[in-house]
Amino acid sequence: MKKLFVLLFIASVIVACGGESAGGESKANPPSKMAANTTDIDAKKIWKIRCMACHGLNGNQGLNGAANLQEVDISLEERVAIITNGKQGEKGVMTAFGEILSPEEIEAVAKHSMTFNKSL
Ligand code: HEC
Repeated sequence: MKKLFVLLFIASVIVACGGESAGGESKANPPSKMAANTTDIDAKKIWKIRCMACHGLNGNQGLNGAANLQEVDISLEERVAIITNGKQGEKGVMTAFGEILSPEEIEAVAKHSMTFNKSL
C-alpha cells in the first residue's frame, strides 16, 4: 500500500512538471517587430516639413536669409552641427533642430541637403 502511494506521488509530480513546461512554451511568443527602424526615416519628408519654408524644395529659395544650398559645399559633419545648433547668418537665423529632430533624423536630412549641390 505504501509502495502504491509513492508511485502515485511520483506520477503526479511527473504530470505536474509536464503541464508546467507545456504552459511555459506557449508563452514564448516571437518578439514584437514594432521597434523603430532608422532606415525608415524619410529625409525628403522632413525636408519639406522643416526646411523648405526657408531653403525651398530645391535648396535655393533663400527665404529668411537662408543659405543657397546648391552652392554650399560644407561637410556632412558641419551640416549636422548647424542643423542641431542653428546658425546666425548674415541675413537671417537658422532654427536649431536639436530638440525637434532626433540625431538620426538630423543626419538623414543633412545628407539630403548635400544632394542640392550637384558639384558634390
Ligand atoms: C527659419 C528659416 C530656416 C529654416 C526653417 C531652415 N534653415 Fe537652414 N539656414 C537658414 C539660415 C538663415 C542659414 C544661414 C545662412 C548663412 O550662412 O548666412 C541657414 C544655413 C543652413 C546650412 C549651412 C549653410 C552654410 O553654408 O553654413 C545648412 C546645411 C542648412 N541651413 C540646412 C537646413 C536644414 C537641413 C533645415 C531643416 C532641418 C534647415 N536648414 C531649416 C535658415 C533656415
